[in-house]
Amino acid sequence: MDKIVSLTKRRGFIFPTSDIYGGLANGYDYGPLGVELLRNIKELWWKRFIRTRKDMVGLDSQIILHPKTWEASGHVGSFADAVVEDTVTHKRYRADHLVEAWLKGKDEFKNLVVENMKVDELSTFVKKNKLMSPEGNPVSETKQFDLLMKTHLGSLEGEKDTVYLRGETAQGIFTNFKNVLDSTRVKLPFGIGQIGKSFRNEITLGQYIFRTFEFEQGEIEYFFDPEKEDPKEMLKMWQDAMWKFVVEDLGINEKNLRWRRHTDAERSHYSKDTYDLDYRFPFGWKELWGVAYRTDYDLKQQMKYSGTDLQYTDPHTQKKFIPHVIEPAVGINRLMFMVLCDSYREEAERVMLQINPAIAPYSVAVFPLVSNKPELVSKAEKVFELLSKHFHTYWDDRGNIGKRYKYQDEAGTPFCVTIDYESLVEHTVTIRDRDTMKQTRIASTELISHIMKNI
Ligand code: GAP
Repeated sequence: MDKIVSLTKRRGFIFPTSDIYGGLANGYDYGPLGVELLRNIKELWWKRFIRTRKDMVGLDSQIILHPKTWEASGHVGSFADAVVEDTVTHKRYRADHLVEAWLKGKDEFKNLVVENMKVDELSTFVKKNKLMSPEGNPVSETKQFDLLMKTHLGSLEGEKDTVYLRGETAQGIFTNFKNVLDSTRVKLPFGIGQIGKSFRNEITLGQYIFRTFEFEQGEIEYFFDPEKEDPKEMLKMWQDAMWKFVVEDLGINEKNLRWRRHTDAERSHYSKDTYDLDYRFPFGWKELWGVAYRTDYDLKQQMKYSGTDLQYTDPHTQKKFIPHVIEPAVGINRLMFMVLCDSYREEAERVMLQINPAIAPYSVAVFPLVSNKPELVSKAEKVFELLSKHFHTYWDDRGNIGKRYKYQDEAGTPFCVTIDYESLVEHTVTIRDRDTMKQTRIASTELISHIMKNI
């Protein structure tokens, strides 16, 4: 983990946010390489789930929605964690995490299921057993802590101006359901997907970009008629699509993936069945991507609170009903973190990110052998211009070639092209393969097809 953190900072994938002020708790900015990797992942997600499917459309809703949206969804009130505060350091901890840590090795409590415990039960347990913080200090009363971030619209602060930064992108899809029905020619089953920022007042952070206050989600609400489609089959269809995306599109090793079904107690208030696709991060198996059967809960709730009819009319039978929904929801930053962890390699002489070429920040780098020979630079510039029409291409004319290769290995660039003296006479270049380090001399005219074939 430390090595991944160090490489991603060294090479400009991820920077602690507001670095010059000493950072801001668990906030990260994405640097020149990170932003490219994130974009590539988002574009592939959009291509796979929106553009290349007949049954999907896209959306981009606001971060700030009408506050009633969050009352309807059940997030105001129930989107909360039980929290205690260390009375000395004032650090906050999730009460269930403290209880779980305290229970380890205590056989007399082996039947206690912590995830089933309500806030008042956790509070009594913490008090009765005099639980301490991880630093060994007494803790405060257990309190409910809202995960939704509050802000205010306009200049006056008051309860009536209170709005929320969305805690999930999903609700913007439900509130636009009627707009999409009225403005497009979709028919069930169909889905609406969007990518965008979400915000949560998370208590347990750490572990780098795994869990942050601000993050990007890629969410799909897939609507269907439960009398025609079996929810179990719909869930399975999306589980297969998620797995395929992670393995085939992102190139992740299947050995580091597994499915885990939520227990009744841990499922969110809106879900009837939830599965997590877990990835084996350096700190253990953790949720990467969830898929939930949200039934007709959200549309019903939004219909009740808004008074707007959100029913669907079957074009053949004229039957009016509220569709059910399956929701695959993923954090884009978490996908990127997984890609970085899965592709990190250390070899005798080098460190490399063996990122799937389809999503690598740069596909190819172009180097003039030296930077003080105008004819070499000008020839290399022509190669750069040509390649950059087809691929994301990096230019580097600094230092020796060995150092340039080292940078590109750590950036995960699959190909490096060097223009040398022979290039001027023979119209050939050397192309170096990231994974094998093999250098091959090929005709400049073959460059594009050579790279295309391999990415
Ligand atoms: N709409 C359903 C929903 O938001 P979730 O399991 O809370 O469900 C979905 O979140 C996904 O969003 C997670 O599987 C994870 O990948 C990502 N995610 C959630 N909270 C996050 C956080 N604080 N930081 C980064 N990613 C997060």
